Amino acid sequence: MNVRAYAKINIGLRVLEKRPDGYHNIETVFHQIDLYDELVFAPADVITLTTTSSEIPTDSNNLCVRAAETLQRYTRTKKGVAIALKKNIPVGAGLGGGSSDAASVLVVLNRLWKTGLVQEELSSLAATLGSDVPFFVRGGTAVGTSRGELLDYFRLEFPFVIVTVTPPIHISTAWAYSHVKPRATNPTESLRSIVERGLMNPSGMAAAISNDFEESVFEAHPQIRRMKDTLMSSGALFALMSGSGSSVFGLFRDIDSARTATGRFVPPATVSLTPPNFQPIAHE
Ligand code: C5P
Repeated sequence: MNVRAYAKINIGLRVLEKRPDGYHNIETVFHQIDLYDELVFAPADVITLTTTSSEIPTDSNNLCVRAAETLQRYTRTKKGVAIALKKNIPVGAGLGGGSSDAASVLVVLNRLWKTGLVQEELSSLAATLGSDVPFFVRGGTAVGTSRGELLDYFRLEFPFVIVTVTPPIHISTAWAYSHVKPRATNPTESLRSIVERGLMNPSGMAAAISNDFEESVFEAHPQIRRMKDTLMSSGALFALMSGSGSSVFGLFRDIDSARTATGRFVPPATVSLTPPNFQPIAHE
């Protein structure tokens, strides 16, 4: 069985406060883009993972393996699986690649192993794997609050081309959270409302939407700020860093202006393009 695990961007990310458990309460809009890893599942006696990437582990430190082991333990199944992962989503790039892969493993194995968990149970297991994993159990677009696992899904028909640019810089989420300054007050207007208003007036989003990680990440890696500036100077209506970086994305009115902008970035930076009104092929 073959599936695609789509990446996400964060259209805005507010870090609200540090909690007693060490996590931070956040508010963000997760939105999937047309960039995906490919996973192939084959029956096996034990859990194994092979991958095209030299940047990720293949043992229990890998989130896919952890997802399979977590489901195996929770459902007490004796089944195994051989997973082959073709990595296209850059690693440590704020695009949720590892989280999306892990969610796909939970959803697909629940079917292959006939373990019969409902979506809420899969989401609870997903939250034990990482704060961003529950979003990908259903995918699409959602507001994420609490530590990112409390989700309010909604349909967002985004009429823009999304250009995502990733420099060869890996940023650890834990590092980013340890350097961020939480907000003193929570803005009155919700991110969702600002994003929905932005459908009519995307340039207006620049004043209202921020990613609270930008300040400290840009300070440590000025190259990322320059990439965002390049997106804006090549015609983006709006640009922002995704997650805790290192990727930035820009919204463009049409495919021609988006293509012109992508021409401004050269390897080792990587670029992806998401067409308007993109909806990922959902898990069945
Ligand atoms: O949940 P995840 O494993 O992705 O988080 C990695 C690290 O990022 C956590 O150990 C925590 O330090 C930090 N984090 C946080 N608040 C969140 C999500 C993550 O402080 N909402």
